[in-house]
Amino acid sequence: MPESIIIGKVDEIPPGKVKGFSKRGIRFLVANIDGAFYAIGSTCTHAGGPLEKGVLEGNVITCPWHGSRFDAATGKVVSGPASNPEPTYKVTMSGKDLIIEM
Ligand code: FES
Repeated sequence: MPESIIIGKVDEIPPGKVKGFSKRGIRFLVANIDGAFYAIGSTCTHAGGPLEKGVLEGNVITCPWHGSRFDAATGKVVSGPASNPEPTYKVTMSGKDLIIEM
């Protein structure tokens, strides 16, 4: 059964930005794409790079290590060298709180 965890406030992640988190031993990032929040794993599936430090352009985040690109909404690989997708997590809002289900 998924567990709901408050991870912060909605206004801490403005549109076009990402923020990294580590909860329950899982590293993930939350991206604000045009006002909608999405969460995917932040350990790059290529060689473990820190995706939360990558650049978000539209819905695509680029790994700072070797340039793999992932869809920050779906976790799917847009371009390699990574070939495996990132896991996704559901993000909801309650008032000004951001909540992740894991
Ligand atoms: S670790 Fe991310 S592209 Fe290589």
